[in-house]
Amino acid sequence: MGEGAPINVIAVSSGKGGVGKTSVAVNLAVALAEAGEAVLLFDADLGLANVDVALGLKPERDISAVLAGECTLAETIVAGPAGIRIVPASSGVARMASLSASEQAGLVSAFSELPGPLDTLLVDTGAGIDSAVLTFASACPEIIVVVCDEPTSLTDAYALIKVLSRDHGVKRFQLLANMVDNELQGRRLFDKVCGVADRYLDVHLGYLGHIPRDDYLRRAVRQQQAVMTAYPRAPSAQAFRRAAVRVQKTLRATAVSGGIGFFLERLIEAEHG
Ligand SMILES: Nc1ncnc2c1ncn2[C@@H]1O[C@H](COP(=O)(O)OP(=O)(O)O)[C@@H](O)[C@H]1O
Ligand SMILES: [Mg+2]
Repeated sequence: MGEGAPINVIAVSSGKGGVGKTSVAVNLAVALAEAGEAVLLFDADLGLANVDVALGLKPERDISAVLAGECTLAETIVAGPAGIRIVPASSGVARMASLSASEQAGLVSAFSELPGPLDTLLVDTGAGIDSAVLTFASACPEIIVVVCDEPTSLTDAYALIKVLSRDHGVKRFQLLANMVDNELQGRRLFDKVCGVADRYLDVHLGYLGHIPRDDYLRRAVRQQQAVMTAYPRAPSAQAFRRAAVRVQKTLRATAVSGGIGFFLERLIEAEHG
């Protein structure tokens, strides 16, 4: 991967858990890969339902081994469907907040020196406004906020957007409505969040569209597969394909030209700044 190659760095976040963040991260990654992109999915969520569980992967090493000098970052990567590459979650993610200067430098160069091309880095950040989520999300130039049609999902999404904009200088957000009955319901969720955000916050909210509530997605989760590969014609799989096209159209503008090391530098600055 060239140092200067522009890449998209996108956080997938949400106000509350269980709204489909990991499902979105995994399936969007696959949809982008099927559209020809080289995708790296960084699982930065320490919760239970991790990307490796969602895809039935059994990672042997994680970032803590990289930090301990026992292996390279490339050796932690596991292959997912459609050629996506995954950096698994671990307790090492929490430790990233308290690295020594030489460990930081090592990690930045480890990400920068990952072999192979890279177009998009997706980061599953976990939910809510705890510091790890805020740190990872604010290091990404683009943030997808996943919402569903539950009052707490909307109020918690608003709280996340508020804290990120007020305390972390984040001004751009993309909403994705998940588990909705139809297009109109998704649009209404976006309008609700947008209405309040426009009134009280200085932010730009874009809309990435909706993913329908889909039993095929549930079934794919039980089979530890992406719905994109298990049931490519399912309604949710088709919706992920449409969302990927929107991601490519709207988020290209903010591609970072410093390569992936730039993301890590921002991450470390955010943690210590
Ligand atoms: N579009 C959808 N249609 C039906 N069920 C969904 C959809 N998205 C998510 N789910 C269900 O919600 C559960 C939680 O999703 P998950 O991606 O793990 O959420 P999060 O990462 O936000 O906690 C999944 O296991 C799945 O059963
Ligand atoms: Mg999750």
